[in-house]
This record gives sequence, C-alpha cells and structure tokens, in this order.
Amino acid sequence: MFDKLNALKETFNSELAKSKSKVQLTILKDQYLGRKKGKITLLMKDFKSVPASERKELGKALNQFKAEVVRVLQDAEDVLTDQTLEQQLSTNSIDITLPGNRRPLGHPHPLALVRQEIESIFHSLGYSVEDGPEIETTYYNFEALNIPEDHPARDEGDTFYFSNNLLLRTHTSPVQIRTMERSQPPLRIICPGTVYRRDNPDATHSPVFQQVEGLAVDEKITFRDFKGTMEFFLKSFFSEKTLVRFRPSYFGFTEPSAELDISCRFCSGSGCRVCKMTGWVEVFGAGMVDPAVFNFVGIDPEKYNGFAFGIGVERFAMMKYGVDNILNFYQNDLRFLRQF
Ligand code: PHE
Repeated sequence: MFDKLNALKETFNSELAKSKSKVQLTILKDQYLGRKKGKITLLMKDFKSVPASERKELGKALNQFKAEVVRVLQDAEDVLTDQTLEQQLSTNSIDITLPGNRRPLGHPHPLALVRQEIESIFHSLGYSVEDGPEIETTYYNFEALNIPEDHPARDEGDTFYFSNNLLLRTHTSPVQIRTMERSQPPLRIICPGTVYRRDNPDATHSPVFQQVEGLAVDEKITFRDFKGTMEFFLKSFFSEKTLVRFRPSYFGFTEPSAELDISCRFCSGSGCRVCKMTGWVEVFGAGMVDPAVFNFVGIDPEKYNGFAFGIGVERFAMMKYGVDNILNFYQNDLRFLRQF
C-alpha cells in the first residue's frame, strides 16, 4: 500500500510538471481528487483492506498527500492566473495620459446663489428660515395684512384667483401672519419663496418671481433697529460703500412704510441709464409692523413692535450681476447660466 502511494506521488509530480494550462490542471484535479474515480479517492477506499497495524501511519500519509495535492494544484492555478494578467497588461497597455471624458458639472442657478447669500447674511443676524404655502387664502394674503377689501392690490387684474377666497400668493407677506399665529415673540425670521402676479413678462416683470420676506418682532424694537438691520444687510450684500436711502411709502401692513434705495452701483451715484440718471436704484419695500396686524394674530401691540421687509430676489440678482432682462433667469439658456 505504501508503495502504491509512493508511485502515485511520483506520477502526480511528473504529470503536474506537464500541465501548462488551466484546463490541464482541472483534468489533473479530477483524475486525482474526483469523487468517484479519483486516484486518491480509490486509494482511500482500499484503506479498509490494510492491516490494522499499518492503518494509523498510512491514514496519516494519505491525508497529507491529499492535502498537498489540493494545495499544489491551487498554487499552480494562482500562478497561471497571475501570468495571464501580466500578459494582458503588457499587450493591451492603457495610455493613462489620455485625457478622460469630463462630465459637465451642474451648479446652483444664479437666483439660488442670491437667495442663499441673502439667507446667510440674515442667519448671521440670528434669523431662522420659515416656509408657507404658495396657494393662499385671501385672509392670509390680504385681510390679515390689513389690505382692505376695496384695495387695488386685490384686483383680479393683478392676482391669479382660483376662487373668491383662494389665490396664488402675490407676496411672501402671508408667512408673517402664519408665523405670528404659531409662535410668540421674540421672532426673527425670513421666508424665501415664489410669488405670482398677473403681469405681462417684459425686461423687468415676470408673472412668477421670488421674494425673501423678513420679520422681526420683540419688545422695544425701534426704527433705528430697522434702519440698522437694513443698512447692514445691503452693505453686506452689495458693498461697504453702498449708500442706503429710505423714502416714505405705503403698505397696509407696515406703518410707517419705506421704499429702500441704494446708490447706483454702475455709476456710483453720478447718474446713468440703469438709475435713470438719478444716482439711486429702488431695492425693496419695508416698514414697521402696523399694530393692526398684531391685533389680527393676537400679539399685544402695546408690548411688542417690529419691522418687516420684502426683498425681490430677481431684482437683487440683476443688480449684483448686471443682468438687464429678468427673463434671462427663466429661459434656461446654458450660455447664460454657465456664467455663474
Ligand atoms: N409684500 C410687499 C410687496 O410684495 C413688500 C413688503 C414686505 C413691504 C414687508 C413691507 C414689508 O410689495
């Protein structure tokens, strides 16, 4: 039996030396380790006829041989795999200096950039961001903002109505009301959002545009806080050199109300086409919250006061980037968008 084993070892070694491919290795594996007719398998079956005195040693030798065959075959296969890979690499070499295919990267829309910048300036002042619905009731869009029934702003020619009391919000101011209904002062919030007006599109009008509403309510807020905040914001957004001017205006929900102007960035105030030779450009409306609005939301106007503002995002983007037609922002012309 030992002789048989030794003979088998020798044949195996010489056959292994002749096996030069994976197929040959597989055949060899089958010849020796096959479950029914493998040479080692058969030898193991003969084991029963071996006298008991030899069994222990022989069993050990058989198992060792089998393990060795398994290992040696695996090693041989690994070597072949490595060789094939080496060969492939040396024949199909890759030119790693060839330029790759660059995928065009997307980036934020200019209106998103401006909105983010407005948000980050107010964040730095402790304001948080609120949200509200674009489909509003006349109550939130007008009434609670102290815009009476017969006010021209409610006109059907200016507003998209769904029904008598349902509409597309014409400004982000209804979010002031919703916020004050849910939370008690102190409040410092901004609300960026889309608004809708029945305007015909032209260089400065779009029926869909964006605003960032702002509202601060606390005890002892003064007109100076209002002015200071607005100036800080405008100087941060445009430049430290920017001059800010407050002109009296009217909004139902603020009293006093102001229209804010900044010194023209294109001529530094000396007069040009952009500022229509005035040196000033109107930027947005704002004012001290009218006590009538506090009454609508159940905040005590004797104890609290505040200010509010409504920034037009497109207008800011036009001024910041020197864009002279608002419609550029909506036409998705890549030649335009790629500049930001
Ligand atoms: N909601 C006003 C508008 O759309 C802007 C505004 C907001 C004015 C807040 C005063 C206070 O024109």
